[in-house]
Amino acid sequence: MAITVTRLGPSFAARIGGVDITRPLFDATWAEIRAAFEAHSVLVFHGQSLDDDAQIAFSRRFGALEVTRSINPAAGTPFARQSNLDMKTGEVIPSDDRRMIYQLANMLWHSDSSFKAVPSLCSLLSARIVPPEGGATEFASGRAAYPSLPEDVKRRVETAVAVHDFSWSRDQIRPGFFTEKERAEFPPVRHPVVRTNPVNGKKALFLGAHASHVVGMSMEEGRALLRQLLDHVTRPQFCHRHEWTEGDLVIWDNRCILHRATPYDTTRYKRLMQRTTVSGDPAELAHVR
Ligand SMILES: [Fe+2]
Repeated sequence: MAITVTRLGPSFAARIGGVDITRPLFDATWAEIRAAFEAHSVLVFHGQSLDDDAQIAFSRRFGALEVTRSINPAAGTPFARQSNLDMKTGEVIPSDDRRMIYQLANMLWHSDSSFKAVPSLCSLLSARIVPPEGGATEFASGRAAYPSLPEDVKRRVETAVAVHDFSWSRDQIRPGFFTEKERAEFPPVRHPVVRTNPVNGKKALFLGAHASHVVGMSMEEGRALLRQLLDHVTRPQFCHRHEWTEGDLVIWDNRCILHRATPYDTTRYKRLMQRTTVSGDPAELAHVR
């Protein structure tokens, strides 16, 4: 049986029905999901009771998985845990704990792993425990926004290269958050500001909180340009908001989608989201490095 694809946002995002992704998929079903991913950039699946093994198995259909580094409690595994619950005790983590401050940067628009030399293809976020209010995730499409950029701005950014720096996104929450050792572990990388989808040729702005400045521009000028582009991408007509229900799995294309977390009461409610992240194609952006 074919999957159903229902458009959710004004210009991107779709709900996928008619498939149980907790079980092995027929190749034809997988091909439909993969095509929907390229077309719609954000895919929403409801009622999928994924455990960790099933999430890994489904995520691997997209490609090799990143192994999480950094201070994420799940470092060393394919999971980036987004939660206010201590991984060992299950207790709520105090809001002044470094692990919670680290997660505050998720509320800035970003593309997961854009600070890596090979940025990711996509993220898959599985809702395991959802607070009764708050905690939605918002998405903005750098692809949907690109065509309406003024022509002079398009010319300005066409060949622009941005420096993405993990410590910069944390500095915006708390200056000097990363230790010297952490900074050294994640050196800045360079990526084009405009990326072209290899399947459909559509162009997208590639920005976000890790994008620190622009090569060949002063820090001030580069940041002003990145801010101008971000303001354009995050206009309401290029955004879609997902309110989570337990059992949801949402996949987004990090090559063209920015996303951000929204607040919830971390002292009253429990939240556990498991993210897997699929590696990008090392050849795609090699010309910039
Ligand atoms: Fe994220």
